Amino acid sequence: MKRSIYLRSVVIYIGVVLISLILSFWIMNVFYIDTIRERLQEDITEVGRQTITLYENSNYTDPVEFIANIPTFNYNLIIYDESGKALNPNDNGQWGTSNDQIKKVLNGGVVRVNDRSVSPPSQLNVGLPFQDNESRYALFIRPDLSFEENTIKRVMLTTLLLVLIIGSSIFVILMRYVVRPIQHLTEATKKVAVGDFTVRINSERHDEIGDLSRSFDHMAHDLSHLEEMRQEFVANVSHEIQSPLTSIGGYARVLQDNMLEEVERKKYLSIIQKETERLSKLSENLLKMTTLDADDPIFHLRSYSIDEQLREVIVSLEAMWAEKGIEVEVDLKEVQIEADYDQLSQVWINLLSNSIRYTDSNGVISIQMIDKVEEVIVEVRDTGSGIPEEDQAYVFDRFYKADKARSGNGGSGLGLAIVQRIVHLHQGNILLESKVGIGTTITITLPKLKKREET
Ligand SMILES: Nc1ncnc2c1ncn2[C@@H]1O[C@H](COP(=O)(O)OP(=O)(O)OP(=O)(O)O)[C@@H](O)[C@H]1O
Ligand SMILES: [Mg+2]
Repeated sequence: MKRSIYLRSVVIYIGVVLISLILSFWIMNVFYIDTIRERLQEDITEVGRQTITLYENSNYTDPVEFIANIPTFNYNLIIYDESGKALNPNDNGQWGTSNDQIKKVLNGGVVRVNDRSVSPPSQLNVGLPFQDNESRYALFIRPDLSFEENTIKRVMLTTLLLVLIIGSSIFVILMRYVVRPIQHLTEATKKVAVGDFTVRINSERHDEIGDLSRSFDHMAHDLSHLEEMRQEFVANVSHEIQSPLTSIGGYARVLQDNMLEEVERKKYLSIIQKETERLSKLSENLLKMTTLDADDPIFHLRSYSIDEQLREVIVSLEAMWAEKGIEVEVDLKEVQIEADYDQLSQVWINLLSNSIRYTDSNGVISIQMIDKVEEVIVEVRDTGSGIPEEDQAYVFDRFYKADKARSGNGGSGLGLAIVQRIVHLHQGNILLESKVGIGTTITITLPKLKKREET
């Protein structure tokens, strides 16, 4: 992977440099070369004119001789006589001057050749007429570009090579700086894959790789939290299974004693039965919890009357509350709700079972309803033992039992967790108020129409 990132980046770098160079030369060519050529041609014309003036003011009688004796620097000059014959044809370079042009100059005109549409672009020839006592001449002058052109090309090529070599080297070194954190991330990912959730990158970079590293740390943190939760869950479940099994085992052993009286035998058998029911309830609750925990729990939405449902639940639990001599007061309104019937039944059963379980004989449980425009509020109040303030924040946690001393009550601490999950899945709210020795009130607010999940 490392090699390919290096290679790719360098290739991309070289490509980008080349493309930008080509593009900039092309743009230069299109926008500037014409101006430069025009300026150059003006200079050439001026040089030609001055040369002619010099000749006219000199003592020379032969222009060819004059030209041979004056410094012409980087200009090439050629002179044609009246017949159109070149007087100094040994000049280097191809002039490509046409007879028409020569004739035009001999007739006193000025010729400027500057054609970029031909390939290669024409030389910047300028033809100027002049005459002495004897005859007329045509002087053609042009810059000797070959030297400059070669130098420019060499400078350009050297620059290009230098940009590529120095640039690529710096680039490769810098890429190392970019690639190293990616290697760290790869190492860390491998560790997480084998179950080590303690790895952290702790990047202090403020770029995309820094963001990626922080996301990674975040993920590793969440994973380790999840792992803790998983271990805690397994520990809780085994504990919840262990205690009833221990007591079942213990009583079964006692029951093997043939000398046991019938009353005692019945008592022990009923304890075994209770513990078995507790185990069965636990497994049922665990299953419910898992179903509700699914990413997209299945809802069987239907519209029904919630007061009817509450009445049914109260009646179904009558054996329990009547046995304890608890009085149940109801104040119900007729309200239709769209919800999952079975899930909400579970909510009421769990809440009422709690109130019955944690309320002493002759207590009072009251169930009230408030009908609002878009929601319905159900309040379950009891005169039970109440929940200590320090426990109130945790009673909705899984396996949390507030009253440790009373944990012999048979609960597994899943009831309120399930209630909360179902209420939240229905986009409702749950509120707990409780005072030790006075009682507990749980208030549930539910929308009458289940809001569709926004995706
Ligand atoms: N109405 C109540 N009055 C007093 N304490 C309560 C009441 N409801 C809940 N609690 C406390 O909150 C704890 C958690 O309740 P939850 O219903 O989740 O578990 P549980 O009743 O112990 O077990 P489960 O419901 O799974 O059989 C209970 O152990 C109890 O201590
Ligand atoms: Mg409960």
